[in-house]
Amino acid sequence: MADMTDVARLQLAAWHAAYRRLLADDFLDGLTVEGIAGYHGRHFDAAQNPNLDRSAFLVAEMTVPPAEGKKRPTKTIVGMVRGGPTREKTAAGDPVPPEVPKKYAIELFAIHVEPTAQRRGVGRQLFGAFIDAAKKKMPDAALVLWVLKDNSNARGFYRKLGGSVVGECELTLGGKKYPQVAYGWPKYPNITQT
Ligand SMILES: CC(C)(COP(=O)(O)OP(=O)(O)OC[C@H]1O[C@@H](n2cnc3c(N)ncnc32)[C@H](O)[C@@H]1OP(=O)(O)O)[C@@H](O)C(=O)NCCC(=O)NCCS
Repeated sequence: MADMTDVARLQLAAWHAAYRRLLADDFLDGLTVEGIAGYHGRHFDAAQNPNLDRSAFLVAEMTVPPAEGKKRPTKTIVGMVRGGPTREKTAAGDPVPPEVPKKYAIELFAIHVEPTAQRRGVGRQLFGAFIDAAKKKMPDAALVLWVLKDNSNARGFYRKLGGSVVGECELTLGGKKYPQVAYGWPKYPNITQT
């Protein structure tokens, strides 16, 4: 299992870079590596994640050349993806349109790439690896994910991978409500052909 602190560190960097104008500053500034690591750590706790056997949590690593005076290259985590059976509420407990979980059995909960590693194919590889893992557990599922309506970069990425908008809901973060849209794929996409 990946070091959750490294995963949380990259997610925090990705959120700070991508969400600064999209979410309230006090919410973003209050996020901590420890808090995010704790949240993701619950994924691996069967008592808190009853769908653990049908879920996937994957990371992308990049090899970094040896630092001065060191012999060995090191590996650093530059991306993460996580998902499982589609939730009937958002991560914050907001309702989602009931037809979404009914129609789309697998949900990609989160995908983040470290800001300096973006637009180099890491997100596409992670997305493809998630689909490969999900197929082994739920072969015939349709795929869905939620994204902030104003996150135009991520929406461009999902469009490029063949997704289309299939629903809308709100997400409550730090006491504020933000509009979200769902991107759906009626069957698993072939990520190498989008
Ligand atoms: C969204 C995100 C995961 C994409 O990962 P990435 O590594 O930058 O994306 P890739 O380089 O693998 O791009 C894959 C394809 O999508 C396209 N793409 C990526 N970002 C795009 C954008 N903003 N607009 C249009 N197309 C885009 C790329 O051009 C590429 O197409 P190609 O393979 O045909 O050349 C990453 O930018 C990220 O972590 N963003 C911040 C956090 C975030 O918003 N996460 C999503 C939360 S819902």
